[in-house]
Amino acid sequence: MICREGIDVTLLNVQGITKAFGGLVAVHDFSLSMDPGQIVALIGPNGAGKTTAFNVISGFYRANSGTVSFNDQNITHLRPDQICKLGLTRTFQVVRPFRGISVLDNVMIGAYSRTNDARVARSKALETLEFLGMLPEAGRLASGLPIAGRKRLEIARALATEPQLLLLDETMAGLRPAETDEVIGMVRKIRERGTGILLVEHVMRVVMSLAERIIVLHHGEKLAEGTPDAIVQNPQVIDAYLGEAHVEG
Ligand SMILES: Nc1ncnc2c1ncn2[C@@H]1O[C@H](COP(=O)(O)OP(=O)(O)O)[C@@H](O)[C@H]1O
Ligand SMILES: [Mg+2]
Repeated sequence: MICREGIDVTLLNVQGITKAFGGLVAVHDFSLSMDPGQIVALIGPNGAGKTTAFNVISGFYRANSGTVSFNDQNITHLRPDQICKLGLTRTFQVVRPFRGISVLDNVMIGAYSRTNDARVARSKALETLEFLGMLPEAGRLASGLPIAGRKRLEIARALATEPQLLLLDETMAGLRPAETDEVIGMVRKIRERGTGILLVEHVMRVVMSLAERIIVLHHGEKLAEGTPDAIVQNPQVIDAYLGEAHVEG
């Protein structure tokens, strides 16, 4: 918690969420809390439940139990668009821009979450593209973008919704090291504006260079939580996850 004008505010407070698909419990009794402006990483093996946790937090899945609060408001039963309006936005692991329209038009779709006025949306989208150093790509068709461009577009679209908390799901997956560095720079800039970031990421170099705190999910449950230094030395974490080869994609 931090003190904002004398009031203690927790940006995100997830309490004991469980999500099952039939008999498969994908996330079990998972809790997490974040202060405004923090960068927290959620890591763990494939199938650990990371994306499911994102889907519950952002309102795409309804939890079987547990609560999610954002800025101390209970958002557990809200829809994704309502949650987005409150300032919590996520990206998707599988990016899916509208391919037949331009980068600018895609980012405007994000901006429309806060306005119905096309001029306002356009200027917000241009401002976002400029902030992220993507103005030269504004007129390109989304379908013509390479994977790194599509990933950056996904971040720009999300940022145009003006989030206080941004959930990034494997944004660096499939990128080359130089492209990864570019996205790391973007994430740092976004955080400098005061936006909190919760990221799911496999590339440990990224996690170590960005996260203030790491949460390890394993079989749907929290295995460990701590500073990056503590996490990489945690024998249970090494056993369950870090022992696997983590080569950069
Ligand atoms: N919509 C769904 N329907 C059924 N099973 C799902 C669904 N989404 C995820 N799962 C299952 O839940 C588990 C966790 O998946 P996921 O949250 O995608 O893991 P991660 O993102 O950590 O790789 C996996 O066993 C996966 O197959
Ligand atoms: Mg996933």
